[in-house]
Amino acid sequence: MKNSIKKAMYAGSFDPFTNGHLDIVKEAAELFDQIFICIAKNPNKQRKTDALVMANAIEQTLKENNIDNAIVVIHVGLVADFCAQNNIKYLVRGLRNTSDYMYEENIAKINAEVNPNLKTVYFRAKNDIISSSMVRELYSFDRDVSQYIPPDIARILS
Ligand code: COA
Repeated sequence: MKNSIKKAMYAGSFDPFTNGHLDIVKEAAELFDQIFICIAKNPNKQRKTDALVMANAIEQTLKENNIDNAIVVIHVGLVADFCAQNNIKYLVRGLRNTSDYMYEENIAKINAEVNPNLKTVYFRAKNDIISSSMVRELYSFDRDVSQYIPPDIARILS
């Protein structure tokens, strides 16, 4: 019988980390022994919140939610490479709708080319309207976004 720890990667810009992301982390944390929440670089996006500040706020959020098998990392290279280097065999992605699925399937295939040991697994998002930029935009117009993001993330939004 195999006795290795089942590790999974959940990567994103998390700019900011939302309740939608938290839902996915909660589900993944039940299924896997260890989750790496990786703040990664999306080359098409310019970060608005400092990655280290966001990492600390996500850690606080994990504590508040009693999730003790997830750790937050920051990585600038390919996520599939990070997984290979850290013996992570599963890449978690959230699906909000069919367009997410079409997009994710392409990325999953590319990631499998980079790291053939990496399997992408999907979790169904509970809320299909949240996105990080939507939260930022509402916030920039002084709207209350507390229903979309955890309190520790709200404290660092700027
Ligand atoms: N709930 C709420 N929002 C969600 C969500 C969920 N369950 N799942 C995704 N979203 C939102 C995200 O917040 C993001 O919103 P935004 O576009 O307003 O910022 C949007 O949906 C897209 O999410 P995602 O596709 O995960 O993009 P991302 O920018 O957050 O993350 C990386 C993309 C960082 C994972 C990707 O660019 C990456 O892996 N970069 C490293 C380099 C690499 O390995 N590239 C892949 C191979 S080429």
